[in-house]
Amino acid sequence: MDSLRVEVPGRPAGTYEVLVERGAFERIGALCAEHAPAHAYALIADSRVAGLYSSRALDSLRKSGARAESFVFPAGEWNKTRRSWAELSDALLSEGLGRDTVVVALGGGVTGDLAGFVAATWMRGVPVVQVPTTVLAMVDSSVGGKTGVDTRGAKNAIGAFHHPTFVLVDPELLATLAPFQRNAGLSESVKIAAMRDVRFFEWIEGAARGLAAGDLDVLSELIGRSVALKGGVVAEDPREQGLRAVLNFGHTVGHALESLSDYSLLHGEAVAQGMRLEARLGEMVGLTQPGTAEQLDAVLRSCDLPEELDPDLTARRILEAASSDKKAREGSLRWSLPARVGTAASDPAGGWTHAIDLSECEVALDAALRTASEVRDSPA
Ligand SMILES: NC(=O)c1ccc[n+]([C@@H]2O[C@H](COP(=O)([O-])OP(=O)(O)OC[C@H]3O[C@@H](n4cnc5c(N)ncnc54)[C@H](O)[C@@H]3O)[C@@H](O)[C@H]2O)c1
Ligand SMILES: [Zn+2]
Repeated sequence: MDSLRVEVPGRPAGTYEVLVERGAFERIGALCAEHAPAHAYALIADSRVAGLYSSRALDSLRKSGARAESFVFPAGEWNKTRRSWAELSDALLSEGLGRDTVVVALGGGVTGDLAGFVAATWMRGVPVVQVPTTVLAMVDSSVGGKTGVDTRGAKNAIGAFHHPTFVLVDPELLATLAPFQRNAGLSESVKIAAMRDVRFFEWIEGAARGLAAGDLDVLSELIGRSVALKGGVVAEDPREQGLRAVLNFGHTVGHALESLSDYSLLHGEAVAQGMRLEARLGEMVGLTQPGTAEQLDAVLRSCDLPEELDPDLTARRILEAASSDKKAREGSLRWSLPARVGTAASDPAGGWTHAIDLSECEVALDAALRTASEVRDSPA
C-alpha cells in the first residue's frame, strides 16, 4: 500500500483527511501548507521525538514559507499534565504567536493528547495537525479528536474534543521506535477488530508475526485498516454519545492497571491486559461468547504483548481504581464488551455499554485474574 486517504467527518465544517503514506514526512511543509495553511506553525514534540525528527520538520515547514517554532516537553506519560499544558501555552505566548497559528503535534499519543489540548484552548482554539510517530498514535489516538491531560489517579480527566485539521501518517517514522513500544500499540488495533470486524481480527492473527517483527509493509496495512474502522465509528458518534463507547473495550480495567502501576505499564500493554480480563468478565456474566477471551489471549501473545500481571493485584484494587475513573456510576460500573470476536455487545435499548453491579464485577474479575494467570503459566 503506497498511500491511503481516509475522510473522517468530525468537524462542524466538514471532514478531515488522514494520509497514510511511507515517506510523506519529508513533505510535511508542503502538506501542512495544503491542508492547514498558517502564518506560523507551533511544532510540539516530546524530548525524545524532538531529538529525532523536529529539525527535519522545522526545515520543511519553513521551506513552505511559514514561520515555524519548536516546543519541547519531557517524554513520558507522567508529563501529560496540566503543568506541561501550562508551560507549553506560556511558551507559545512568549514567542509572540497569535491566533493565526497552527499547532503540529509530532509524537505518540501523549504528545497528540497534550498538544491537541494546547491547540483546543490556545486563543480559544486553533487548528491542530496530528503527525503520529508511534503505532498507538497512528492506529488510534491521532484520529477522533479526543485531547486532554491526566490528573493524579484519573486518566484524561481534563480535556476537550478538538478534531485535527489533517493527520499525516508516515509509517517510516516507526523505524526508530523500540519494539516493546511498537507492540504495545498493536493492542488498540486488536481492540477495534475485536469490537467491529472479524475479518480484520483474522487478518491480524495471520499477520501477527510480521507486525511483531516491525515489517513496515504489514504495519502500513494495519494502520490503514484501523484508521478506516475508527474513522467509521467516529463519523457515527463524533462526541462519544453512543457507538464510540465500543472503543473503550479493555480500557476500564486498562486505565486502572495503568494508574495502579504508576504508569510503569504502557497504555497499550495495560489495554491488552484489560481486554484479557474484561473478556473473561463478559463471558462470566453471559454477555460474551465463551472462547472469546482465549482467542484474544492467542492473538495478543503472538503480538508479543507481556502477559505478566502484578501478583498482588486483586479485583477489589482494580475496581477501586476504576471507580475513581470517570466511567463509574453509583454501585455499578459500565462496560463495553464484545459479544464475540468482531462484534460488540449491544443492549436491547440500542446502547453499547452494560451496567454490572460492583459486587458481581468483583466475583467475576477475581475469577478472571485466576484464569488469566493459569493461561499465562500454561505452555503455549
Ligand atoms: N486521544 C485518544 O483517542 C487516545 C487513544 C488511545 C490512547 N491515547 C493516549 O495515548 C497515550 C499513549 O501513547 P503512546 O503509547 O504513543 O505513548 P508516548 O506518546 O509516550 O510514546 C511512547 C514513547 O515512545 C517515544 N517515541 C515516540 N515516537 C517515537 C519514534 N518514532 N521513535 C522513537 N521513539 C519514539 C516517545 O518519546 C515516548 O517515550 C496515553 O496517554 C493514552 O491515554 C489517546
Ligand atoms: Zn487506548
